[in-house]
Amino acid sequence: MREIFDTKTDTEEVARQLAFIEEGRKIVAELSEKAGRKLTACVVTFGCQMNARDSEKLSGILKKMGYVLTEDENSDFVLYNTCTVRDNANQKVYGKLGTLNAYKKRNKLMKIALCGCMTQEEVVIEKIQKSYSFVDLVFGTHNLYAFPELFVQMMQRDLMIVDIWESTTKIVEDLPIVRKYPFKSGVNIMFGCDKFCTYCIVPYVRGRERSREPEEIICEIKNLVKDGVKEVMLLGQNVNSYGKNLPEKTTFPELLHMIEQIEGLERIRFMTPYPSDFGDDMIEVMKNSTKICKHIHLPLQSGSSRILKRMNRRYTKEQFLDLALKLRKELPDVALTTDIIVGFPGETKEDIDETLDVIRKVQFDNAFTFIYSKRTGTPAASMPDQVAETDIKVWFDEVLSLVQQCAKDRTAMLQDQVADVLVEGINEHDASLVTGRMSNNTLVHFPGDKSLIGQIVKVSLDECRGFYYLGKRV
Ligand code: 5AD
Ligand code: SF4
Repeated sequence: MREIFDTKTDTEEVARQLAFIEEGRKIVAELSEKAGRKLTACVVTFGCQMNARDSEKLSGILKKMGYVLTEDENSDFVLYNTCTVRDNANQKVYGKLGTLNAYKKRNKLMKIALCGCMTQEEVVIEKIQKSYSFVDLVFGTHNLYAFPELFVQMMQRDLMIVDIWESTTKIVEDLPIVRKYPFKSGVNIMFGCDKFCTYCIVPYVRGRERSREPEEIICEIKNLVKDGVKEVMLLGQNVNSYGKNLPEKTTFPELLHMIEQIEGLERIRFMTPYPSDFGDDMIEVMKNSTKICKHIHLPLQSGSSRILKRMNRRYTKEQFLDLALKLRKELPDVALTTDIIVGFPGETKEDIDETLDVIRKVQFDNAFTFIYSKRTGTPAASMPDQVAETDIKVWFDEVLSLVQQCAKDRTAMLQDQVADVLVEGINEHDASLVTGRMSNNTLVHFPGDKSLIGQIVKVSLDECRGFYYLGKRV
């Protein structure tokens, strides 16, 4: 039987958690008075844009409870919002926990918490309980909204609290948020994934696909715009599956059309569409839009139809090529980027050649290339023919160098154009420059000061430096 999911925010649950925030605020105030100083908290994000958005929610709650937010992990409360898509993200967390333990020994007030995708795995919980007993609180992706409640429990008890749910039907938004950027924001339009690619752990740790009501999304974006946001990134594992479980079905192109009407909003991005769900209605809505950014991230994963089948991706090499070349023709100024996995079980040099062929034909504007990582519990993990590391290394380098060459060629094609650039901040290496992004996501640096941050300005693309431009305002 198909589970019934909520599509609207649960206002009763929001009220409950707000009450716990108030309780948490009292606890923090008391401790702070005893210590004779303000308490600090640090939220560290691993992984994707979804996690980044969740971290903004967690930071908002901590700030409301009276913590001073900091980037220093030597603080009174440290929360790791983890990722488990590839094993190296997990290893990084274990490594960093060791350092936190040393800090904790010197700070009696210090509390350590873990949440996010990694904590949804049983093996991780066992390891934390056995080898990292100094951790105070562990919670998962489905009960992230219950953080205020769990925080209060943690402060009242000395034992490690572990609270992981298998799934949830609830959507709880509208709790306090601290945004990293005043002028741009992620917006969750859906949660979870139903695709079950055989290498991917996401469907197991993020649960089944659930969409939010369009009215709630629109309302959130309108409020963000009132608050100074110019660009939104619509977030979901498969944004073009949006709306399937809604009582009144809305498609992703329809949602985009509605968001386009929001006055004051200037840019709309989305992440990530699934290739075989990218229909002509998407192309139409992008063609007719003045706000949707000229960037589509379309994960290829592999260029070999044989491997795609084993990956349970629902398209062939030819179907992907047809779509990508159609996008190039219909939306010529749109940047196409992708994800590629190298070393999937059973992959051979012939399969890699197919992937290289797709890269050559599509000329991606950029690509993230990943070495296949075996994730316990996924079908691919028990496939017999895992690939030798030595082969993977050679293939990976070959894919990477072709991808980089294409990215450079595509970037160079923009030479001498004038582009709208949303200024994101002061350049990290040269304070006389500011850094911003074009609609197609290309980075541009040009002379300017902090008064430009958050503005969209016209910049001439004077000097191509590989993957980015140096320019000046025009
Ligand atoms: N190994 C390597 N890369 C993976 N990805 C997802 N799962 C794995 C895995 N087990 C990559 C895919 C996906 C991106 C977010 O991460 O390319 O598109
Ligand atoms: Fe993972 Fe595939 Fe779902 Fe993307 S579509 S989250 S790769 S299962």
